[in-house]
Amino acid sequence: MTIRLGDTAPDFTAETTEGTINFHEWLGDGWGVLFSHPKDYTPVCTTELGRVANLRAEFEKRNCKILALSVDSVADHKGWINDINETQHCTVNYPIVADPDKKVATLYDMIHPNALDNLTVRSVFIIGPDKKVKLTLTYPASTGRNFNELLRVIDSLQLTANYQVATPADWKHGEDCVVVPAIQTADIPAKFPKGFTEVKPYLRMTPQPDL
Ligand code: BEZ
Repeated sequence: MTIRLGDTAPDFTAETTEGTINFHEWLGDGWGVLFSHPKDYTPVCTTELGRVANLRAEFEKRNCKILALSVDSVADHKGWINDINETQHCTVNYPIVADPDKKVATLYDMIHPNALDNLTVRSVFIIGPDKKVKLTLTYPASTGRNFNELLRVIDSLQLTANYQVATPADWKHGEDCVVVPAIQTADIPAKFPKGFTEVKPYLRMTPQPDL
């Protein structure tokens, strides 16, 4: 099944390194990131899971839970976590789904047979508090993901949800944002007390509203 932006994230119940999880229940009212990696005891994946563990506080600040997945067993995941902690100087502090029967991988279309036969590719799904899919990403096995980019996207999504601003190309935290087109220019001063610049009638910039 192809999962598109705005779809409800498929629910599932699965075994993880932290016990059985029902995905929607586990997400609660917050945000979530579900990401897959091809296989346990592989080099790029080892660095990725370590990086996420070291960034966990940043995801928590954004009220965002993290769930990893690969097609290996809980026992394999637990053995591998020791290596990740040792080599990446971290404590893996989020659950990893064991998906040996590829139930979740199939549900989320994480297996791309022309890329990696039988293994999950590097998929990412960001899920909002409404359980809708807000972002999908697919990376090749040989390219480790940029998890700071995921934090940047979560910041952007949360600004849009809370303040009706979008973020321009290469936006970074603290930089000016774009007033969404749905807001009339005449209504901007009341909604954005920090002011705005009308570059073009369709391009209105305002300081990041939550700072
Ligand atoms: C890795 O994580 O290093 C990896 C996994 C599968 C294929 C290639 C690289």
